[in-house]
Amino acid sequence: MNIVVVGAQWGDEGKGKLIDILSKDVDVTVRYQGGSNAGHTVIVGQERYVFHLLPSAILRDGKVCVIGNGVVVDPKALLEEIDGLKKRGIRVTPDKLKIAVNSHVVMPYHRILDGLRENIREHKIGTTGRGIGPCYADKVTRCGIRMVDLMNPRVFSAKLKDNLKEKNEYFKKVFSQEGFSFDSIHDEYQAYARRLKPYVCDTALFINDAINRKSSVLFEGAQGAFLDIDFGTYPFVTSSNTTVGGAASGSGVAPTRIDKVIAAVKAYTTRVGEGPFPTEFGKEMDDEIRSRGKEFGATTGRARRCGWFDSVLVRYAAITGGFDELAIMKLDVLDELKTIRLCTGYKYKGKLFSDFPHDYEVLCGAKPVYEEMPGWQKPLGAIREFSRLPVQARSYIKRLEALVGVPIKYISIGSERDEIIVR
Ligand code: IMO
Ligand code: MG
Repeated sequence: MNIVVVGAQWGDEGKGKLIDILSKDVDVTVRYQGGSNAGHTVIVGQERYVFHLLPSAILRDGKVCVIGNGVVVDPKALLEEIDGLKKRGIRVTPDKLKIAVNSHVVMPYHRILDGLRENIREHKIGTTGRGIGPCYADKVTRCGIRMVDLMNPRVFSAKLKDNLKEKNEYFKKVFSQEGFSFDSIHDEYQAYARRLKPYVCDTALFINDAINRKSSVLFEGAQGAFLDIDFGTYPFVTSSNTTVGGAASGSGVAPTRIDKVIAAVKAYTTRVGEGPFPTEFGKEMDDEIRSRGKEFGATTGRARRCGWFDSVLVRYAAITGGFDELAIMKLDVLDELKTIRLCTGYKYKGKLFSDFPHDYEVLCGAKPVYEEMPGWQKPLGAIREFSRLPVQARSYIKRLEALVGVPIKYISIGSERDEIIVR
């Protein structure tokens, strides 16, 4: 069985925990888009791990993790992650980690440009500053440097020289910044190349071969549906396809070989960075849920904006993502609430929107239409069976299911591995 896990909101839906649980039963886990902008948290006992580039299954022995061609790989960030795990007694060896030859490499000028562009923008995106947008831009404008290029010193030198010729002019003229030195980037990246070489291979062949041998593959999406470059709240999005199609193009596995799509969704909504957020809480509620849900970015530490569950968004994500099952994460964060609200539509200038509106002004001015449900006001952490949940919690789950139109299979009621209800 080959499964794709995606986020159905604005990222941080708890994909790391879900992947960690699902990866127990699969052979290969694949990251296929995004880069070190992602922050996937896995908690095992007293230990907390945050993965940015490594697939969350890296903690499990005997499983293979793949960084697919659709990922933009920052070698510095990746090696830091590998070294960080090693210090904690987890060895990342080439039989455990495979990196796509045709994945693109994040360069220092991408990271710097990410920050400079944000600074001069009137409407900031609030990027993670990891160079993601500029790296994908270079991929599309065909001046990117791939892993295979980095591994070949002659090709790498030629490409870097060409890139710096253009970029240094640009940095000087547009941003009055000093350019980059060829020698220092060259030497730094050749050192990365030497360390990463054993991991680099044709991962598309590797994954397809594994599927042919009846291995099961789990595709680990990063970010969420509304950060998708095509379907998200553009331009407040990331630069890759976070929706399910990205799993095929970002790994070299045909969509026909994907058996199931599971979407992770929070029992409420969060967003980190700028952009419209119709169901965002007011200050008081925002602070309360943020502290209860520990809603601070795993990559940047920024406070996440919090709001009510928005079924307009998730229903749209379910349609464009072909979701088979939903995993409702962090239900326990709502434990103490007396009343819970659920958004079923938006009102804007007297018109009712029940489908996601792409228009920026509509999204910014949308007044959510809410349904109210009573809270359960009890801790859920110890419950492992759906039928044992308080009736109010069951009603909330069933209402979400009906509004989104997708069966809810998993319900997470805590951050620990075993704090999950499987229906
Ligand atoms: P995971 O995988 C939440 C957001 C940034 C910003 C926008 C663009 O942990 O769910 P970028 O650096 O990608 O150019 O920033 O996207 N963003 C995320 N928000 N979770 C993430 O990843 C995110 N990755 C990027 O905050 O608004
Ligand atoms: Mg995150």
